[in-house]
Amino acid sequence: MASNRPPARSDLEKGVNGLHLNDVSLDTRALRPRFHYEGTATEPLVPPIYHSSTYILKSVDDFLKVMHEGGSVYSRLANVSTESAESAINALEGGAGSLVFASGMAAISTVFLALLDKGHHVVMNIPVYSGSQVLLKALVSKFGLEVSWVPAGCSVDEYRRNIKPNTKMIYGESPCNPDMSILDFEEFGKLSSSLDGVISVVDSTFGSCYLQQPNKHGIDISLHSCTKYMGGHSDLIAGCATTRTVDLWKKLKTWQTSLGCMLSPHDSSLLLRGLKTLPIRMKKHSENAMAVAKYLEGHPKVNRVMYPGLESHPGHEIAKKQMTSFGGMIMADIKGGVAGGRAVAENLRIVTLAVSLGGVESILEHPFTMTHGSYLLTPEETEENRITPGQLRISIGIEDTDDLIADFKQALDKVVV
Ligand SMILES: Cc1ncc(COP(=O)(O)O)c(C=O)c1O
Repeated sequence: MASNRPPARSDLEKGVNGLHLNDVSLDTRALRPRFHYEGTATEPLVPPIYHSSTYILKSVDDFLKVMHEGGSVYSRLANVSTESAESAINALEGGAGSLVFASGMAAISTVFLALLDKGHHVVMNIPVYSGSQVLLKALVSKFGLEVSWVPAGCSVDEYRRNIKPNTKMIYGESPCNPDMSILDFEEFGKLSSSLDGVISVVDSTFGSCYLQQPNKHGIDISLHSCTKYMGGHSDLIAGCATTRTVDLWKKLKTWQTSLGCMLSPHDSSLLLRGLKTLPIRMKKHSENAMAVAKYLEGHPKVNRVMYPGLESHPGHEIAKKQMTSFGGMIMADIKGGVAGGRAVAENLRIVTLAVSLGGVESILEHPFTMTHGSYLLTPEETEENRITPGQLRISIGIEDTDDLIADFKQALDKVVV
């Protein structure tokens, strides 16, 4: 089963007065490419929100024409607002086509359901986002899938050693949630191209499609929770997938349409607006996070900091190769265990205690008691995910750098060790 429609393409992908997407930088690509249906004399600079569920057809034949060539007949199948967001993401990722989903988890579950069958084997890193982990474990027991877990941050040889005749998917998250390990995209892409029929998938949420583009390294699918950096303002739940080939895009599109888990037109428009400032936000997130990571690394009440921009990070050299800067996420292990971590989390005054990440405001959470705690994971799973009692997952925003450092200083003063 496969969709017949083509992926949405921006005008710059087709060419405007001789200018093409490859002629401009990512900063310009975040703003300039536009998506619109052909045949109108003028078009709005900002795409309107098309919230019509259905579309008027001039003739019965129009239905089939649209189904094969693109356009709208019914908004679960395609909608101008969602296709605008898709063409903008594809312009940044440099893939064959993108799809936007109702959440990051909707994107991940569509990828699993579309590509995995009974008896297939998956190799996935651990730690990995807890929702992806819980979903895959549920699919193992429901549909008889097999999984081999490899340690996040391992060399790609570790994935290779775990390949079996029934392996269908290799899955990595980089930077990894929450411990910030890095996967080597170039090696991962090479591994998947050397294996017939094995799909490589990367959850690229922590990097955003501005800092890294997995498809360019030969990786088949790049996933994001667009709830995070891509939207960037903590005001929507969304996800996306970008594929390396049109065939793969069509498979995902068919399943997305059947599952009905596409992004709404309103949220597509919020996502599109967020994408316009992605380059400038990611630069500031990265600049702030580097300064805060350095400060925390030198603080006597901090055991360990994992930030790919620090030379002490085991994946620093790989991150330098595949990321244009290192993003806004930091993992810091505070001395004093749960009490130490909580003292910082509960005493910060600018950085707010909240789950999620990737928004313009700085927020943080305490994985040991919150996202990776006993409500979701067993104690063994918490340990497998390398969650330590004093660990904080920090999403650095775009506030003034010195204000952020002063905030961490005063909160760390309250930690008793
Ligand atoms: C790395 C990663 N992938 C996927 C998701 C799921 O995204 P959503 O909450 O938009 O479904 C999250 C959410 O935190 C995440 O951090």
